[in-house]
Amino acid sequence: MSGVDTHTGQKPSKPNKQISSPPPRLGRPARRAALVVHVTASACWLGLTLGLLALGITAATTGSARTVEASVRAMKLFADWLLLPVAFLTLVSGLLLSLGTKWGLARYRWVYTKFWLTLATTTATVFALRPGVDSAVTAVAAGVPLPDAGDVLFGPVVSLSAYVFMTVISVLKPWGKTRRGKAVKP
Ligand code: HEM
Repeated sequence: MSGVDTHTGQKPSKPNKQISSPPPRLGRPARRAALVVHVTASACWLGLTLGLLALGITAATTGSARTVEASVRAMKLFADWLLLPVAFLTLVSGLLLSLGTKWGLARYRWVYTKFWLTLATTTATVFALRPGVDSAVTAVAAGVPLPDAGDVLFGPVVSLSAYVFMTVISVLKPWGKTRRGKAVKP
C-alpha cells in the first residue's frame, strides 16, 4: 500500500496542519479603489465625530439657550443623516479589503481589532449616541435646559477616541498575526 511504512505498517503522521491561504481575490485596481473609498470614508467618520464633539462641548458649556438649541439641532442633522451611512461604508469597504486581500479578517490582530471595534462603535451610535442627541433636542425644543451634558458629550468622546486609535493601528499595523493567522501558510 503506497506511503505505508513497510516496517511499522503505519502511515507517517503529517506535521501539524497548515491551512494554505487562498490567493487574494481583489485585483490591484479593485484593491486600490477599495482602499481609497475605505480611507476616505473612515476619515469622514473621524471628521464628523470631531464636529459632533465641538457642537457637544458648545451645547454643554454655553450660557445661551439659543446656542444650545442651535448646537444640538446641528448634532441631530449629522447623527440622523450622515453618521450611519459613513459607518457602513467604512465597515463594508473594510470587509472587502480584508476578505479580498492577503490581510484576511481574522489573520492579523490589527484588522480583527478594527472589525470588532467598528461593530461596537456602530452599535453604540444607534443605541447611545443618537438617542442621547434626540433627548437633548426634545428637551431644548420644550424650553427645558439641557438635562444631561453626557447626552451630547459621551458618545462623541468615546467614538472619536476609537477612530483615532483605529487610524493609528491601521498605519502602524501592530501585534502581528492571530493564532489563526499563524496557521495559514503564506
Ligand atoms: C473607523 C474605523 C476604521 C478606520 C479609521 C480605518 C482606517 C484605515 C486606514 C487609514 C487604512 C490605510 C492604512 C495604510 O494603507 O497604511 C486602512 C486599511 C485597512 N483597513 Fe481600515 N479602518 C477602519 C475600519 C476597518 C474595518 C472595520 C476593517 C475590517 C473589517 C478594516 C480593514 C482594513 C484593511 C484590511 C486595510 C488594509 C488594506 C490594504 O492595505 O490593502 N478597516 N484602514
